[in-house]
Amino acid sequence: MTSTTNTGPVSDPRHVQLTEDGKLRHFLTIGGLTKEVLEEILDTADSFVNMGEQSVKKVPLLRGKTVVNLFFENSTRTRSTFELAAQRLSADVLNLDISKSATAKGETLMDTLQNLEAMGSDMFVIRHADSGAQHFIASQVAPNVAIINAGDGRHAHPTQAMLDMYTIRKHKGDFSKLKVAIVGDILHSRVARSQVQALNILGAEEVRLIGPKTLLPETLKGLGAKLYTRMEDGLKDVDVVIMLRLQKERMDGALLPSEGEFYRLYGLTTEKLNYARPDAIVMHPGPINRGVEIESAVADGPQSLILNQVSYGIAIRMAVMSMAVSGQTQQKAQLNQEQAQEPQDNQNAQTNEETSR
Ligand code: CP
Repeated sequence: MTSTTNTGPVSDPRHVQLTEDGKLRHFLTIGGLTKEVLEEILDTADSFVNMGEQSVKKVPLLRGKTVVNLFFENSTRTRSTFELAAQRLSADVLNLDISKSATAKGETLMDTLQNLEAMGSDMFVIRHADSGAQHFIASQVAPNVAIINAGDGRHAHPTQAMLDMYTIRKHKGDFSKLKVAIVGDILHSRVARSQVQALNILGAEEVRLIGPKTLLPETLKGLGAKLYTRMEDGLKDVDVVIMLRLQKERMDGALLPSEGEFYRLYGLTTEKLNYARPDAIVMHPGPINRGVEIESAVADGPQSLILNQVSYGIAIRMAVMSMAVSGQTQQKAQLNQEQAQEPQDNQNAQTNEETSR
């Protein structure tokens, strides 16, 4: 790490995550990325997506690199697919059990990271309950270390959004012809925020957010989405329906009358799905709560791509990790070149000074 005592303002994550040439070096948020970068992630994932069916499920892109998974919140899909992705890229993978780590004895997050960095780690995949934690870490680590955000607070879940974009592109094609509805607990959802950003950057025709007023912050209008409180209106003629989990663990007070009432009004049933286009696809980032936000007949039905999303998650995470390592390598080469140039520049300046005396 360059410093662990720096308490000054942390710069914008949109700049921290890119090299001077606009390549990914960390992956912290969708905000501020270009359509070209998002399409590069999707295209790179395309080259990995069938790897699960091959007899040798490995490529050497991260051979010799060490990836550390640090999950301070529970996870099934994200953690497992990041681990598989790193293994398929031939990296050495360390999954730190946070409950048994020294953070449980009071060590700070930065001290834990500094120690792992001293062991030669090249990449940290981090999930944390505090919004912005990964961005702070990215602003502190050495130039050759990459930070990948696996979900921070209510802020961002960029790899989830990208695997969702991959699912939509693969099954529905051109974003510019698509109306997409995101339904449920928008207020607490880092996934929804990242999805709205990605859909807008990729040029979706319309992005709609549907939920009860208590879970639908007006501020999201500023991100470029239409807000709806009735499923009949919000689902009308949409091509894609993305359901979200009710995040009860993040609810401070009584935001809903009851789960039963929420399901009656916003649960995706076969009946409500009829408001959407007949060929609409149904997605959910998981974990799903059957009978709370989605009916089993829909979750397991012919329009559901919920398990496809999980499979595509491996390819998307392979894409992001390989692009970040490539960005780091490029940046390190640039730094080395600049450092090699410095003594030469100093020597030239000294010679000029002596000549002019
Ligand atoms: N979608 C998602 O982030 O799932 P996990 O919490 O299981 O990782």
